Amino acid sequence: MSSLREGPAIVVRREDYAPPAFWIDTVDLAFDLDPAKTRVLNRMRLRRNPDVAPQALRLDGEDLNLARVLVNGGGCSFRMDGQTLVLENLPEGAEPFDLEIFTTCAPEKNTQLMGLYVSQGTFFTQCEAEGFRRITYFLDRPDVMASYTVTLRADKDRYPVLLSNGNLVDSGNLPDNRHFAKWVDPHKKPCYLFALVAGKLVAREQRIVSRSGKEHLLQVYVRPGDMDKTEHAMNSLMASVVWDEARFGLPLDLERFMIVATADFNMGAMENKGLNIFNTKYVLANSATATDTDFANIESVVGHEYFHNWTGNRITCRDWFQLSLKEGLTVFRDQEFSMDLCADPSARAVKRIEDVRVLRTAQFPEDAGPMAHPVRPDSYVEINNFYTVTIYEKGAEVVRMMQTLVGRDGFRKGMELYFQRHDGQAVTCDDFAQAVADANPGSELSRLLPQFKRWYSQAGTPRVQATGRFDAEARTYTLELAQTCDPTPGQSDKAPFVIPVAIGLLDAQGRDLPLHLDGGPAVAGTQTVVLSEACQSFVFTGIDAEPVPSVLRGFSAPVVLDMNLSDAELLHLLAHDSDPFNRWEAGQRLALRRALHAIRAEGPVHQEPLDEAFVAAMRAVLRHPALDAAFKELVLTLPAETYIAEQLDIVDPQRIHAVREAMRSQLAHALHEDWIWAYEQHRDNGAYRPDPVSTGRRALTGMALTMLCLAARDNGNPVWPGKAYQRFKDAGNMTDRFNALSALVIAGLPLASEALARFHGMFRQEALVLDKWFALQAGAPDRGGNILPAVRQLLAHPDFNLRNPNRARSVIFSYCSANPGAFHRADAAGYVFWSEKVIEIDAFNPQVAARLARALDRWKKLAEPYRSAAREAIARVAAKPDLSNDVREVVTRSLA
Ligand code: PHE
Ligand code: ZN
Repeated sequence: MSSLREGPAIVVRREDYAPPAFWIDTVDLAFDLDPAKTRVLNRMRLRRNPDVAPQALRLDGEDLNLARVLVNGGGCSFRMDGQTLVLENLPEGAEPFDLEIFTTCAPEKNTQLMGLYVSQGTFFTQCEAEGFRRITYFLDRPDVMASYTVTLRADKDRYPVLLSNGNLVDSGNLPDNRHFAKWVDPHKKPCYLFALVAGKLVAREQRIVSRSGKEHLLQVYVRPGDMDKTEHAMNSLMASVVWDEARFGLPLDLERFMIVATADFNMGAMENKGLNIFNTKYVLANSATATDTDFANIESVVGHEYFHNWTGNRITCRDWFQLSLKEGLTVFRDQEFSMDLCADPSARAVKRIEDVRVLRTAQFPEDAGPMAHPVRPDSYVEINNFYTVTIYEKGAEVVRMMQTLVGRDGFRKGMELYFQRHDGQAVTCDDFAQAVADANPGSELSRLLPQFKRWYSQAGTPRVQATGRFDAEARTYTLELAQTCDPTPGQSDKAPFVIPVAIGLLDAQGRDLPLHLDGGPAVAGTQTVVLSEACQSFVFTGIDAEPVPSVLRGFSAPVVLDMNLSDAELLHLLAHDSDPFNRWEAGQRLALRRALHAIRAEGPVHQEPLDEAFVAAMRAVLRHPALDAAFKELVLTLPAETYIAEQLDIVDPQRIHAVREAMRSQLAHALHEDWIWAYEQHRDNGAYRPDPVSTGRRALTGMALTMLCLAARDNGNPVWPGKAYQRFKDAGNMTDRFNALSALVIAGLPLASEALARFHGMFRQEALVLDKWFALQAGAPDRGGNILPAVRQLLAHPDFNLRNPNRARSVIFSYCSANPGAFHRADAAGYVFWSEKVIEIDAFNPQVAARLARALDRWKKLAEPYRSAAREAIARVAAKPDLSNDVREVVTRSLA
């Protein structure tokens, strides 16, 4: 992150990559930690890179005070080029030399939370992507890998715990009530993986023995009052260690693996070697304070950061354009981890549906908007703006397609070859794809590799048009698949992608037909074909009667599928598809069709947009004896407003909101008896366990309660509001309690304010619970424009703190990014609020501000008067002269 606010923004280009002119072999850092003025002594051993023509050494720095530079122990000449430290007269030749740099910085003034900062009296660091330069002058780029020795010195009472990467090799007392700790990291690493922590912390500890018989110490560090919320994180960490060894043969390569939680963090968590630093949101949980969603998130984030130890740390990125090399692959790995922890296939499918939902509601819009970029971008102004759903989630889909093309065993072989070739190196996305292909000669991936890699180079979501034709005489079913991809900024023409399409054909009874592709061998159930041309036909033979096609099973590629199935066909799939993803998808398509119909209709919004067939199908799913609760909850959840918006060329957010609310309320009334049944059937009273089965039951009861409260709001019957309030009070865990509270708030019932006040009183000491309390109110359905004034009041609440990213997100993002019906106001007041907050936050934390700036990404699709008002608000932000590079890049692209 650059706090440089002067001069034109510099565009960094992938094609300009050049290897570094110097290597840094070892780094010895000594810190005298003081919040006001921390001293950093950095002693490096460098040598010239023999492959690069001799040139000056240019070291990155940002907001540092430079006191001294010594080369081989003596004075030397240096100059500043902006914030870059330039040394021109360094020793010639291949011999290594010593460079010593002494600087100071002010951690307590570091509000952007990059580099060394203080959170609740404890020191933390955040170095990815370019934060290390805020700690000392360095070659702050991931292809420079060095061995680190770190000495920390600090006051003994205020900072009893002193941590850094690797192993603790020495510690002891110093004069003036100070002490020190010396850490040596046995692994070379890029500087973005450096970390230190110093403060008053306690640790949950666990010793484990890995398969090879080696002993390891696992630690989860938190503030003293939080020890009772560390069990789940530790369990997740142990499960991660076991899984990576079992599934990929990748063992823990450290004697000690530490996780530390901080309440002030811009992102979710960070994979620093051996010393992961986490947002408290992804560590702290117990049944009284955390919901099932929190438990699931902790499991996947702990897994994600742990898996980075191999995919990211042992093999890292050559440059930041390759970010998805580690992020896409590691998201894929954490998704597989969470799925593998599910005992039954239905729970796996639920996880897959949730992941696809994120992709479609967040990444597809990104891919269609002003910030669209390839999984491997070609240029950026501010790298922090490229930690996106495209890099992460679409990147994971690209890896998943590779696994689909080579099979699960083939993919494991690919991973093995990748580590054989590149362990200890900084490499590219090409290197990864090449390894997977080379390990699977003869596979479709290997045959089509250059074309497959268009997934890395071309932005935009491909559309696949599918048309089926049954020929009774020839007894064939022909599926014609055609692909297109719309232009994205800087890419007007797209070449065809390699798209694996998983297909099934259902007979009239809903059973999967055996498939013979072009007379080939029979395949039971699902056949995956590979679409690599603009248009291709696939002929299935031996088909006696017209089947119902189930296309793109399991969401086998990140594309939009256009297939004109009739309602009857979709209802057939919803009732019978053996592929749970497509079964869910059929329900979504039916709901979407009805939503779009009502949105496009003339006149006021129809209050009952649903027909009896749809309602009956939803009832059948809800009452189904064999489907599990989690899956039912997903089917009965209507498509999100943002997802509906993506299907339209001109978006009226108010009308979308009104239609979706009408659909939900119709389901609440039409299925009233069924919701009562579902609520009574699925409420558990046993001990809390965050397993998929009981999680699903709680999700479905929560949904039922919301529906019952919605109906009660309309008919004035106080029974269900009373029950919801009772459940809110009596709940044995946070999931049930928060679901009951949400039901009252969503339905806008009078009891909601009582419940909210009570909830605040119960949890005023629990920051993460208060975040939920704020988010629920800022994200509540708008009634006559009441949410914005409520949001302004929340900002004035004594517990609100704009500087804390979690708290800022809980109110401002919940309103601007997650509550379209309240944010898009005809009077433009939502946009005015947004522009004020972007500017206000940018002054102290550009990363958080730039994320918020993206809330209006899709303004060009808006109907009037929203469109003009949105453009004006963005222009108002862009007109500010002293914006950060982060926000500047987002608003400039948005207006382009
Ligand atoms: N690398 C982190 C992850 O995804 C994300 C992150 C990026 C955290 C930048 C902090 C800063 O695991
Ligand atoms: Zn990551």
